[in-house]
Amino acid sequence: MSAPIVVVGSLNVDLVVRAERFPAPGATVTGEGFAVVPGGKGANQACAAARLGGDVRMVGCVGADAHGTLVRRSLAEAGADVAHVRAVRGTPTGVALITVDGAGENTIVVVPGANARLTPDALDEVAAAFDRAAVVLLQLEVPLPTVQEAARRARAAGARVVLDPAPARPLPDALLALVDYLTPNQTELAALAAGAGARDAGEATAAARELLGRGARNVVVKRGEEGALLVGADGACAWPAPRVRAVDATAAGDAWNGAFAFALARGDSTDAAGRLATAAASVSVTRAGAQPSLPTLAEAEARLKGGS
Ligand code: RIB
Repeated sequence: MSAPIVVVGSLNVDLVVRAERFPAPGATVTGEGFAVVPGGKGANQACAAARLGGDVRMVGCVGADAHGTLVRRSLAEAGADVAHVRAVRGTPTGVALITVDGAGENTIVVVPGANARLTPDALDEVAAAFDRAAVVLLQLEVPLPTVQEAARRARAAGARVVLDPAPARPLPDALLALVDYLTPNQTELAALAAGAGARDAGEATAAARELLGRGARNVVVKRGEEGALLVGADGACAWPAPRVRAVDATAAGDAWNGAFAFALARGDSTDAAGRLATAAASVSVTRAGAQPSLPTLAEAEARLKGGS
């Protein structure tokens, strides 16, 4: 069993439609399917690490409603501890409206609902969740002051802090200084690094260096089908992604972060963790939905060895 991983973040229910192409503004297109799927960047990352065999504690808020029950149950079935997920009355569970096109790309609109109720004060009630934590995983679908307070508590507990800056928003340097691994995708990286592009490895490396200069210890750029690259205190590596037929990119970044945290928590090197994470993400894009797409350890390792 790995050392404890704490995820402080969002839990959503995803309302997913598939359509051959995205509607242009003002247009209507006909979709092909509709699914209600457990999601949320925080919950997806917790699910990813737990399904691989990690010792995962989820901290977050849902509404006292059927969607809250659905997403909590999905996490518990994956093996995560949901004792620190609070059901709040009078606010619905967060929802994400997702469209997936014929190429497997998506657009997502998130309505935070109960996720907005995870305030910094609320972390007092779940302080025990940070005990003995090896890795704390954070994203930006809960209030920014909560993310900052969670990072501070993580550091105080001696845990490594992994921050997925999604959805992108401006980040204070005081938060970046608490981060061991900042893991933007290319779009988020370009939004975070003032004026920088991130279209190729060279641009991404330059933009990542800017964020290192603002305090992050390492930046991992998730580059979709190109894989991922690391720049920072732990060195510089590229982790190419295997070629696969992608059907749905939803939660691929979450698969990456959950697997990376799992591997760090069991003692892998940064390089080994990045390789496992890239393999896990490449499995997830071959399946539909957020949490249903996340692989087991056997599946991720088979992909790592070049299997299916
Ligand atoms: O990263 C994918 C997730 O983003 C979806 O599950 C959706 O809930 C949004 O939070």
